[in-house]
Amino acid sequence: MSKAVVNVGIIGFGTVGSGTARIILQNGALIEKRTGKKIILKRIADLDIVRDRGVAVPPGVLTTDAYEIINDPSIDVVVELVGGIQPAKKFMLDALKQGKHVVTANKALLATKGHEIFKEAEAQGKSVGFEAAVAGGIPIIKVMREGLVANNILSIYGIINGTSNYILTRMTREGAPFEKVLEDAQDLGYAENDPTWDIEGIDTAHKLTLLASLSYGIPLSFDRIYKEGITAITPEDIAYASELGYKIKLLAIAKVVNSEIELRVHPTMLPEDSLISKVDDVLNAVYVIGDAVGETMYYGRGAGDMPTGSAVVSDIIDIASRGKGRCCSFLSAGPCGYTIKDSLDIETMYYFRFTVLDRPGVLSKISGVLGAHNISISAVIQKERREGEAVPLVVLTHRAKERDIVNAVKEIDTLPVIAAKTRFIRVEGKE
Ligand code: HSE
Repeated sequence: MSKAVVNVGIIGFGTVGSGTARIILQNGALIEKRTGKKIILKRIADLDIVRDRGVAVPPGVLTTDAYEIINDPSIDVVVELVGGIQPAKKFMLDALKQGKHVVTANKALLATKGHEIFKEAEAQGKSVGFEAAVAGGIPIIKVMREGLVANNILSIYGIINGTSNYILTRMTREGAPFEKVLEDAQDLGYAENDPTWDIEGIDTAHKLTLLASLSYGIPLSFDRIYKEGITAITPEDIAYASELGYKIKLLAIAKVVNSEIELRVHPTMLPEDSLISKVDDVLNAVYVIGDAVGETMYYGRGAGDMPTGSAVVSDIIDIASRGKGRCCSFLSAGPCGYTIKDSLDIETMYYFRFTVLDRPGVLSKISGVLGAHNISISAVIQKERREGEAVPLVVLTHRAKERDIVNAVKEIDTLPVIAAKTRFIRVEGKE
């Protein structure tokens, strides 16, 4: 589609829908001057067309019926901002079948049902734009698809969930417990009433699914990603991490080792002088290493009406500027030559917090089990002294295999000197 005028219909007039409408109305003239494309906001559909969103929508634009957009022959691009799986999936498939291009911010839908959607888009010769689905306003999809197209992508490390980054940042600054900061985040509107997907790493894994497919040509692999959230992180862990020179962040990691890809989402200890560990509050960042370009990092707002709307409008212009639909099908790429590594086969460094009864010989018992599982210790901290009572014992390891770590913890947790379940956190960075 290469047209000077692009007729757009938005389904979903929530936060991102209103940001998108506002940008089209406020910056339309600038966009036209720059690109030669005039975006006409033809319709906006939402069940609630009464609530004031603070956007001066021209008369006749609002409708409660999404199919007034999907079935309107004059509309070129349907923007799906309903979220969730249904009816968003039906809207997208029906819009594609009606010959529309689709733009969406819906990472959950694309990560889990994307094959069906991209297949339909390919069959119809239409595009599915999803810049807004990963890291909000950061144009990381364009970076991976275009800017770094000449590179083998060696690794991707992303802080791509603002809610969990906000929670960890405040826990770090204030030494506050997870539950208290989560409550504040909900009061401030940074966390949803049901924050499960954000704090359990699910939202991060949805985004990693898309990034990894785009970067490595692998099928959408949400189910194959190792996922662990931040709910078990304590202020104590954060304080020990700091003492050891690290910060704790919820990271999305995609890393190629030989022809195997590690795909994992978990709290990660990062050297506190690394650039990505300085990304705080609700901000997002994606750190990418390519074989030609070397290290690169992209930073910005991962959520919110205007940042995410910025990504949506960029997709609309991108679609309008191309002669034909660019399908995002990952299915047509053919064999990618990569396999996804079993998470038990990953190798990294580890932080352990054992809860031990403070008595002589405990450390040697624990280090004996670690040694028997090929795990080598690089640092030990035991500060508190309460003879016979439970105290934390912190151990940092050299590189070790996850399988050995899991087996060692199982064995250690059966020792009579262990007073509570052992916690471990993966550590990234140079040894
Ligand atoms: N809930 C997401 C976050 C924003 O906290 O980053 C939308 O992806």
